[in-house]
Amino acid sequence: MQQPSTVRAVTTRRLLDMKAQGTKIVCLTAYDALMASIFDHAGVDVLLVGDSLGNIVQGHETTIPVTLEDVIYHTKAVRRGASRALIVADMPFMSYQVHPDEAFRNAGRLMKEAGAAAVKLEGGQRVLDAVARMTAAGIPVMGHLGLTPQSIYQFGSYQARGREQEEAEQIYRDALALQEAGAFAIVLEKIPASLAKRITESLRIPTIGIGAGPWCDGQILVYADMLGLTVDFHPRFVRRYDNLFERITDAVRRYSEDVRRGDFPNESESY
Ligand code: KIV
Repeated sequence: MQQPSTVRAVTTRRLLDMKAQGTKIVCLTAYDALMASIFDHAGVDVLLVGDSLGNIVQGHETTIPVTLEDVIYHTKAVRRGASRALIVADMPFMSYQVHPDEAFRNAGRLMKEAGAAAVKLEGGQRVLDAVARMTAAGIPVMGHLGLTPQSIYQFGSYQARGREQEEAEQIYRDALALQEAGAFAIVLEKIPASLAKRITESLRIPTIGIGAGPWCDGQILVYADMLGLTVDFHPRFVRRYDNLFERITDAVRRYSEDVRRGDFPNESESY
């Protein structure tokens, strides 16, 4: 008989407690079961099935082409790979902007069909109705402010946001409004550390930074950047903990050489 799991799964409640206790929240993106199981095993608290899968998995230049079906597919895989981490599914472009009812239905699919424990969406004022609709019905929502990649064609570049006073104040107000609408956490992307600090100190809910300095309650990176799988992307906020592009290339070259000279498989690797 299968034993009940002794692993205590991370919940949105736990993240709030972590903020209150000053325990940093560790988040990473994941798009498949294999990576999810490794990151879960390593103790990552939150796995985000980010729409960055459009760049990392699908090879697109932006996240705009990612569909709800794509996120459902990848979230199902991540769900199967992880048992402890909180799984957050990103709502892709145009899955929540048209109407709060449609946003609500799509968020419901990410939870019911894909197995997400929460959803994430980008923006402030313009998504408040959708956030309130979801949270009132028990769908945990993570906000995302600052550089919001789905608005890349509106911004015109991936430069840091909130450097000017007016935009900084808007981001600050949006963070408070998202909290009031019921969000359980907010990603702050590429904003000045001082602004992220002010927001973090003003909120009851945790902030998760990416290029937003050290004072956020948690940090997130795209795993492929953090592990050095991506090579031509060097923003200052990415710290590379490995150089897997080179190490994998080397391993594949050695395998190729062995196959070509008939050295693989050898006798002990054969039946
Ligand atoms: O899609 C994504 O991976 C994200 C993170 C970078 C926060 O939104």
